[in-house]
Amino acid sequence: MRYNIPVTEEFEDRAREALAQPKNVGEMNDADSVGTVGSPDCGDMLRMWLKFTEKDGKKVIDRASFQAFGCQTAIAVASMATELLKGKTPEEARDLKPDELSGELGPLPPMKIHCGQLVEQALKSALDGKDAPQKKTTETLARKLHSAPSQKIKIIPLEDGEDN
Ligand code: FES
Repeated sequence: MRYNIPVTEEFEDRAREALAQPKNVGEMNDADSVGTVGSPDCGDMLRMWLKFTEKDGKKVIDRASFQAFGCQTAIAVASMATELLKGKTPEEARDLKPDELSGELGPLPPMKIHCGQLVEQALKSALDGKDAPQKKTTETLARKLHSAPSQKIKIIPLEDGEDN
């Protein structure tokens, strides 16, 4: 095994708790922006929607939601991240690192960092706003995986030593 630091029981307990009731799961029909990324290594995909509002003259994130076709850690981190993004400016959101996006899950074990990076990249893709928000549609991330690509999906290479 290449990793010296194992996934701790505490981390697994917190992830299990987050997965029992994941927050902000699902398509956001009135989103202002959407970002979709996929990992070429594990094949997981994550899509994030953002809705902005204005507060004290600043543009801030009002709501965030996600769909994931991936591992439980990515789902748990996305659940945490979509909660803590509320009220952040796009700049503040862009500065968040995977360990910050994981919120109450705590720091990600080395072998799970790329799961957090998937969430980070989906957020950045949504903040870039290059993907048009989806109109009301029945398309899901799972369905998209089985259809020809019509929307750009960013492929995220894992860093060295992040293989499974
Ligand atoms: Fe692929 Fe977690 S995102 S294993």
